[in-house]
Amino acid sequence: MTFELNEEHLAVQAAARDFAQNVLKPGVIERDSKMEYPTEQIRQMGELGFLGMMVSPEYGGGGMDTMSYVLAMEEISKVDNSCSVIMSVNNSLVCWGIETFGTEEQKQKYLPRLASGEWIGSFCLSEPEAGSDATSQRTTAIDQGDHYILNGTKNWITNGGTSKLHLVIAQTDAEKGHHGINAFIVEADWDGVSVGAKEDKLGIRSSDTHTIMYTDVKVPKENRIGEDGFGFKFAMKTLSGGRIGIAAQALGIAGGAYELSIAYSQERKAFGKEIAKHQAIGFKLANMAMDIEAAKMLVYRAAWLKDQGLDYTGASSMAKLYASEAAMKHTVEAVQIHGGYGFVKEYHVERLMRDAKITQIYEGTSEIQRIVISRNISKGQHYIPVIGNSAVTV
Ligand code: CAA
Repeated sequence: MTFELNEEHLAVQAAARDFAQNVLKPGVIERDSKMEYPTEQIRQMGELGFLGMMVSPEYGGGGMDTMSYVLAMEEISKVDNSCSVIMSVNNSLVCWGIETFGTEEQKQKYLPRLASGEWIGSFCLSEPEAGSDATSQRTTAIDQGDHYILNGTKNWITNGGTSKLHLVIAQTDAEKGHHGINAFIVEADWDGVSVGAKEDKLGIRSSDTHTIMYTDVKVPKENRIGEDGFGFKFAMKTLSGGRIGIAAQALGIAGGAYELSIAYSQERKAFGKEIAKHQAIGFKLANMAMDIEAAKMLVYRAAWLKDQGLDYTGASSMAKLYASEAAMKHTVEAVQIHGGYGFVKEYHVERLMRDAKITQIYEGTSEIQRIVISRNISKGQHYIPVIGNSAVTV
């Protein structure tokens, strides 16, 4: 067993940390307060290759592994979770979904633009009445021979206002249940696509989240992803990978709160010594460090399983569940460690606390992750420790 990162991993981690601390940090409080979309920062992220990290070089991407992506997500999420959710959706839902399941024409047409950041993508699964219960799709795509006619409403769509490409999940044959669901690539400027108001959110406030309406949108048949009826499995398989990205985001949030808490508590004095030397604070830091290390093992393991081509569905849900719960718990503690300073924007921890909440909700709530994990257990994945070279199950 090795816990070492290779040269490429270390280089990506250092580049992401440098970008987050020096480029993202200076304006992050203002962007969050004003709900200002990070246009220039996202442009730079595209230029630096953070928006198509795992896309093959032949389609304009970085050709990196999931582990590199996770390390970059973690560093960027220590600072700016609006930027990291935009990055996560573009990389692990949109680019990965198209590259893994799309046709050669779809890959050639769309991936270079998405990987460079010229286009940002969005993943349009959730609906007003289909959130956790993702099979209850009301959006319809009616087969008209060489095209489909798409009608419906999607909500809570990350990148909803800025994305040029939507991956839309829709019901094509209600009688077939989830086997009658398909996924489509829809361009945002096609007739009939309209975007609702930007949501005013608790956290990740400068990312743009919208409702999107589709009214008689003509979608060419060549824009369907996979065989007829593959859409629900496409969404589930894509989300399994996406959850590793959100797990890395949560890990970064917890890590960012921890780093700020260490710095503050080693400087701030009370009762004649640094507050880190008081047991009340020292124990909080110890709990944080332990949970972050545990979350890190789960997140890196899920990335490693994906990179090895092994089953990672249960592992990604475990990583997301554990890391997001740790992020929520320990950002609250970070605010407490900072006392009154923690309650004001200037010290960053209140924003991380607000950002942590969404990691327990999007790409499947904590309750949904428990469903996925328990269903994997009932399928025979008992998650008993590694035996021989089998890092998966016994
Ligand atoms: N991989 C492959 N296939 C899968 C799968 C996976 N991970 N999970 C399920 N399936 C398959 C099942 O095998 C089954 O196929 P068959 O009938 O052919 O055997 C089919 O899909 C239906 O599965 P279930 O019976 O398990 O379906 P369910 O209705 O009970 O729902 C669920 C399962 C896990 C609860 C699912 O609905 C789910 O994940 N819900 C949460 C949705 C979600 O995460 N939404 C997030 C929105 S996107 C977002 O947040 C992006 C953003 O902008 C940040």
